[in-house]
Amino acid sequence: MGEAELAAVTEVLRSGWITTGPRCAELEERTAELCGARAAVSMTSATAGMHLALLAHGIGPGDEVITPSMTWVSTVNLITLLGATPVFADVDRDDLMVRREHVEPLVTERTRMIVPVHYAGAGLELAPLRELAAERGVALVEDAAHAIGTRCGDAPVGASGTAIFSLHPIKNVTSGEGGIVVTDDLELAARVKRLRFHGLGADAYARETQGRAPQAEVQEPGFKYNLPDMNAAVGVAQLARLDEFIERRAALAGTYLERLADLDGLAPLVPPSWPGRHAWHLFIVRVLPERAGLDRDELMAALKERGIGSGIHFRAAHLHRYYREQEGLLRAPLPNTEWNSERILSLPLFPDMTADDQERVIGALHEVLA
Ligand SMILES: Cc1ncc(COP(=O)(O)O)c(C=O)c1O
Repeated sequence: MGEAELAAVTEVLRSGWITTGPRCAELEERTAELCGARAAVSMTSATAGMHLALLAHGIGPGDEVITPSMTWVSTVNLITLLGATPVFADVDRDDLMVRREHVEPLVTERTRMIVPVHYAGAGLELAPLRELAAERGVALVEDAAHAIGTRCGDAPVGASGTAIFSLHPIKNVTSGEGGIVVTDDLELAARVKRLRFHGLGADAYARETQGRAPQAEVQEPGFKYNLPDMNAAVGVAQLARLDEFIERRAALAGTYLERLADLDGLAPLVPPSWPGRHAWHLFIVRVLPERAGLDRDELMAALKERGIGSGIHFRAAHLHRYYREQEGLLRAPLPNTEWNSERILSLPLFPDMTADDQERVIGALHEVLA
């Protein structure tokens, strides 16, 4: 957070308009511009965005949605809460992303949507997945929570189709909390926008600025997922620094790759071999206990003792207690997912990280794994 973010929030607080208003509109415009999307709709989280995208596609009881289990549990929870069935696809062992061959055998006549994840800031190999979705007549919504600024080939994530970004504090750009649905489907954008605010035809800002009748009516029951302008202002200021953030993250990731290469107890995720831009949201390694002499959890504890935080992104969704207890949930074994779920570890990576900070992490890893 810099002076621009602080000034932007102060300006909103002084402006007399703190909820969804001009700063949200600006955040949406800038995001649409950034990825070349036809429409962008901001809201309180990517989870809210996924909820509304699922609803807007009419997902409900009897429907199946294919998603990797190697994802954040929010997607799986929402599919379940809507009465639909999450169908878990395995992922590539080295980049944690689904391929067509993981998804295709799982498509049935009940499949309504595929939700692949751009993982850790890397871009999915999208074309084969889009072809599959088109051939089988199912929707595809990209979970781009990690992928603001990511490119698949030359195209920014969100340039076509529907993708959902997260602006949660650990993401590459944050608004405190927040999420943005970008889409080339204007009808979908309008529906999501309506569902975001009680299902009303207009929100308070639209009534204020567009002179719509204050007695706006519910078109369908909706939610209260609109983003306050205080948050959007932070998001706008951060978005202006996205390239700078990604460059710094990429430099730090490059140093990790180079300086950890001699530790054969650690296997970093492998960046995609296809063209694109990696936004380096996370730097993930797999701890190989047979070579490291300790397992992932022991390494996390050893780092913590040295004052170094690390994280797990993610424990596979089907291994969470609730989903473990659901009989017959797995349609196919998930060997790569399970192998990674117990080995992955995210090392510290953030734009303000100094060379000294990183040296301390690299030194600690060498000391513990020596
Ligand atoms: C892959 C993935 N999808 C969705 C989400 C949900 O994002 P939010 O916290 O903005 O709801 C996250 C958040 O960490 C995520 O990592």
